[in-house]
Amino acid sequence: MSHPNSFYITTPIYYVNDVPHIGHAYTTVAADVLARYWRLQGRDVFFLTGLDEHGQKVQQAAAKAGIDPQAHCDKLAPQFEKLWLRLNISNNAFIRTTDTGHKSVVQRYLQQLYDNQLIYKADYTGWYCTFDERFWTEKDLENGLCPDCKRAVEQLSEHNYFFKMGQYQDRLIEHIKQYPNFIRPESRRNEVLGFLTTQKLGDLSISRPKSRLSWGIELPFDHNYVTYVWFDALVNYISALEYLRPEPLVDRFWPANVHLVGKDILTTHAVYWSTMLMALNLPLPDMIFAHGWWTVNGEKMSKSRGNVVDPNAMADEFRIDAIRYFLLREVPFGHDGDFSRDALISRVNSDLANGLGNLLSRTLTLIERNTGGLIPKSIPSAETALESELQQACLDLLNKQLGETIPRLEFNRALEAIWRVVQLANQYVDKTAPWNLTKKSEDAPRLHTVLYHMAETLRVLGLSLYPFMPDTVNGLNAQLGLSNRFDGPLPSIYWTWGRLEPGMQIRKGRALFPRIEPNTPQGAKTVSDATTPPQPTTAIPTPTTVAPQTSAPAAPAPVAPAQITIDEFMKIQLKTAKVLTAERVPKSEKLLKLQVSLGEGTEPRQIVAGIGKRYEPESLIGKTIIIVANLKPAKLMGIESQGMVLAAGDSEVRGLATILEEVDPGTKVK
Ligand code: MSP
Repeated sequence: MSHPNSFYITTPIYYVNDVPHIGHAYTTVAADVLARYWRLQGRDVFFLTGLDEHGQKVQQAAAKAGIDPQAHCDKLAPQFEKLWLRLNISNNAFIRTTDTGHKSVVQRYLQQLYDNQLIYKADYTGWYCTFDERFWTEKDLENGLCPDCKRAVEQLSEHNYFFKMGQYQDRLIEHIKQYPNFIRPESRRNEVLGFLTTQKLGDLSISRPKSRLSWGIELPFDHNYVTYVWFDALVNYISALEYLRPEPLVDRFWPANVHLVGKDILTTHAVYWSTMLMALNLPLPDMIFAHGWWTVNGEKMSKSRGNVVDPNAMADEFRIDAIRYFLLREVPFGHDGDFSRDALISRVNSDLANGLGNLLSRTLTLIERNTGGLIPKSIPSAETALESELQQACLDLLNKQLGETIPRLEFNRALEAIWRVVQLANQYVDKTAPWNLTKKSEDAPRLHTVLYHMAETLRVLGLSLYPFMPDTVNGLNAQLGLSNRFDGPLPSIYWTWGRLEPGMQIRKGRALFPRIEPNTPQGAKTVSDATTPPQPTTAIPTPTTVAPQTSAPAAPAPVAPAQITIDEFMKIQLKTAKVLTAERVPKSEKLLKLQVSLGEGTEPRQIVAGIGKRYEPESLIGKTIIIVANLKPAKLMGIESQGMVLAAGDSEVRGLATILEEVDPGTKVK
């Protein structure tokens, strides 16, 4: 069992046969979330990632590039290191299996096993798969091909050294049965158990004759051989603890808490590594978690298809935290998932810009306007059931839901729980309508109470989100006026309600997540800063809608017939629209200028609506409303309006028409 106060997490070490892709980034980001989460909880964390530099794949890649394998590794290694910096990965060490320190640990273990007669030399004839660098038996083959990669195999006969893996079969089965969390998720655990309980586990060839492969760690007991790349690579999880720090950390961190791996390399970890550890008399890791694979727009990602997702290209286009969020929110960890740019954009717009971004901007705007930018005090006598509900939801998130999901690597569930609080907080703002509490001085205690709850909820959300989106949370904290850093242990008091100090000065800054206009690289143009030329429309105003309340002359409305035909009604194009921005028209009590979206791929529209007496602009951002989309543009107080919003009320607006269910902007209403 691992040590209770430490947390050791590893990623696979990646082959340096090519540059990193989104699959590598996926595992590494997931490991980073766990590392950051446990650091916040006060654990002594060691987070290891690195490179697998030996073996046939790397030797072949170097030969192709016409350079020596070591030079090839030295050239590619910085690409991985730079990517991890860019993705804000907080690894404590970076191992390369060509490091002298690593090589000597591998040789020491080999010698130990050899001395204990757990490695023996034998003749071996089998079917060899060059791609997977392994032998298969005749009955393993599928239609004469490698059962793993389906490539052609060749018959080879050679002397080799074997590790007595087979003798640990029963012990391994027992271990897996005894520790249900040893292999996760459950389906993968069952696969491994199924294979181990129905097939005889053979011994493992752990050497390669130098005549066939020279790029590897020489066997300490036979200079004509190098070590099989997997035996070399798996040892990294312990060798790093021995030599990558001034003082050895093996006692402090071994056994590891979690080895994160992709589903394709589960067997090598669950079977080879576990039996190697048993033979070396070392404890087994607590958990090996196998995640799924990403396809791209429904297709397997491969160089030949030319659809490999380059994390650097993604990082050029999107914010790092948007990528991190998407990878862990989109698919339950352990399942396969499909990567698409559109899905990422839609997540950013709905969850980050509308949900969280909207909550922050509403909160800061209201505090700026009403309490001089200072965090107000919550007044207990002004608190209602709505405040208790919000406080309870925050405490539940901090003290229960995060702890029930993140340690189990249920990242998407953790993010769902966080976003339930985002949603509740936005609903809280709608229900408490703080913009209606700004006029009378007797409303001040209630106003301050509501504003405090909004701001404190944002603090709680930041704390919860930090492991996933560290940069965003640093920005959010700065805007809230907090100087906290979340990269180390946080006293337990922070995990309670009410830590935000009244009187602190907020610093409203740029939107954390501006909306992304599809087909537009982020940073070039976002919907919120787009300026739109007016769209000509046909005017069919109707008395069933509430026209903008204005003193300026609007387009003359025809006299309403008592009844209209369906054809007449069908001339009116009613559509759902999402409010992107809203602001008051200067010198007008009633008019608000809205920018609304009619869906992806359309230009946002500007609508001037006479709803300013009933609504504060910030309360409308992110709302789905209904507009008359084919109303002839008109100017209200000199500002062009390209449509009309539907609202209930006679002379006074009493409520905006909206839609009960979530529907996309631009959906027809009839
Ligand atoms: N070098 C070995 C690991 C040794 S660990 C002691 C190796 N390297 S790898 O570079 O080929 O793969 C590393 C990881 O990338 C694996 O966990 C693999 O599952 C993951 N992925 C490769 N393609 C992937 C996707 N398309 N999607 C998600 N992960 C993917 O194997």
